[in-house]
Amino acid sequence: MIDKYGRSIDYLRVSITDRCNLRCIYCMPPKGVTFKPHSSILRYEEIIKIVEVGTKLGIKKVRITGGEPLVREGVVDLIKKLREIPALEDITMTTNGVLLPKYAFALKRAGLSRVNISLDSLNADIYKTITRRDEFSQAIEGIKAALEAALGSVKINTVVMKGLNDTELESFVNLTIDRDLHVRFIEYMPMGETSLLSGNYYVSLNEFKEKIINKTGMVPANIKNNGPSKDFKVPGAIGTVGFITAISHNFCSTCNRVRLTADGFLRPCLASDVEVNMRGEDGKISTKSLREKFEKALLLKPISHNFYKNNFFPKKNMSQIGG
Ligand code: GTP
Ligand code: 5AD
Ligand code: SF4
Repeated sequence: MIDKYGRSIDYLRVSITDRCNLRCIYCMPPKGVTFKPHSSILRYEEIIKIVEVGTKLGIKKVRITGGEPLVREGVVDLIKKLREIPALEDITMTTNGVLLPKYAFALKRAGLSRVNISLDSLNADIYKTITRRDEFSQAIEGIKAALEAALGSVKINTVVMKGLNDTELESFVNLTIDRDLHVRFIEYMPMGETSLLSGNYYVSLNEFKEKIINKTGMVPANIKNNGPSKDFKVPGAIGTVGFITAISHNFCSTCNRVRLTADGFLRPCLASDVEVNMRGEDGKISTKSLREKFEKALLLKPISHNFYKNNFFPKKNMSQIGG
């Protein structure tokens, strides 16, 4: 699939639930979170139908996201079924890691290629402030479980926030020295109700990047990724360190992805509210119409995001889209 700006789209991010066992401040509002009723969430068979049609149009990589994907029952079987689609080269997942002690080995056996795990602090109290839940030790155990299960090159996603975790960058870099861990620092994106906090917490990674590279002597590195991270490594280290600068240096010109929301909408851009309903007027997914719907979504893909322009922010919270 090539969009009207010449970008080749081969990556589909599939959110399988808007529910989560954490409440990260950049992802969900503190109170009054409403979740979609089960009846509006796509069934696994429907997701598989959509992915199958996507692969006929050129999708080669799928990332399972949430909310938190591991809170939805049957996710291991979903991975197994996706593995049966021959055209899929890469099946990955982004998770907060809390349930990985339970699922890491089963996911590996089911054919998951690798996981990216969100971890915003190495301090249990700060972790609790950011996630509004007391699950730090479970998340750490989850990272260990992913390494033990050899779930690919395990990546750690860290959203850098002013006054919260912005003094921890060096500690995160140190994690990569003798472990096969790949830390990526991410800029806060203003999404939904949580965009109200972005003024308090957003920091550009520009300044941090230069300082930490100078301090640690990091050099550019190559690592398998499907996305926007610019990667470096401390000479001799096993792991790498990436920077995802969605705001200060947007990477929209090389965007390769579209997103499927848990309630069945194809979203051509994270940061635009335009979506295509994959269900027909009868509320059903019909294989026949899916190709047209992918094509329509592609035509609607904007040239770039508009974050922070004219106070724009997307209406949905990140938990409803999956990052
Ligand atoms: P890899 O294949 O491992 O590189 O994964 P990824 O970076 O595509 O996925 P992940 O779910 O780990 O996302 C990391 C961060 O990048 C999250 O904060 C996402 O919200 C952000 N991100 C991913 N895709 C996009 C995008 O298309 N636009 C913007 N602005 N941010 C994105
Ligand atoms: N800004 C930047 N990154 C975010 N994520 C969730 N919400 C935001 C936001 N507002 C990250 C999570 C997760 C990934 C899918 O997206 O940390 O790792
Ligand atoms: Fe849950 Fe992920 Fe959102 Fe945090 S960022 S509340 S872990 S869905």
